[in-house]
Amino acid sequence: MRLAPLERADLVRCAELEKILFPGEDPWSVQAFQFELENGNFYLGAHVEPAGLVGYAGMSELGSPGHMECEIHTIGVDPGFQGQGIGRAMLVALLDRADTMNAPVFLEVRTDNVPAISLYKKHGFEQIGLRRRYYQPSGADAYTMARPGVTQ
Ligand SMILES: CC(C)(COP(=O)(O)OP(=O)(O)OC[C@H]1O[C@@H](n2cnc3c(N)ncnc32)[C@H](O)[C@@H]1OP(=O)(O)O)[C@@H](O)C(=O)NCCC(=O)NCCS
Repeated sequence: MRLAPLERADLVRCAELEKILFPGEDPWSVQAFQFELENGNFYLGAHVEPAGLVGYAGMSELGSPGHMECEIHTIGVDPGFQGQGIGRAMLVALLDRADTMNAPVFLEVRTDNVPAISLYKKHGFEQIGLRRRYYQPSGADAYTMARPGVTQ
């Protein structure tokens, strides 16, 4: 498995995976991913040969040097490749980058998303809030989770 910066050529597959992974949640289109890249957000793709792109993850980096905050916007792994450490590898890569900025990291996750919550808790995230009906159109609730910045 190889991690690489997400490129425009990857976005059609990302949008296909979104439809599979988030069917009731207004999955992101190619244009939505493109917008994320154009905004300078940090995105990685996970590639496995010969399958190609099997995962993606990204976050925004907000603030000014010394006062940065990161927010994970999305992370997803092709169902045929889940449970093999790919989600963990992508999350660790995002967190390593946040750590170079001493930045706390925030995210939202559906309250019933047991695999994702387990992954986040194993990597230092704690639940800090509850957002009712955060996801649309499902109306599902989200936890806000945070991981403090590291002091280097
Ligand atoms: C969440 C997701 C990205 C995890 O990716 P993955 O590659 O399957 O996960 P990994 O194999 O790297 O597992 C890492 C950890 O995640 C958790 N995890 C993964 N699958 C799990 C499952 N079915 N049940 C419970 N925990 C699970 C475990 O804590 C696991 O650690 P362990 O191997 O020590 O038990 C993946 O399940 C996914 O794409 N889900 C759909 C999209 C989604 O919900 N994204 C998150 C939105 S907030």
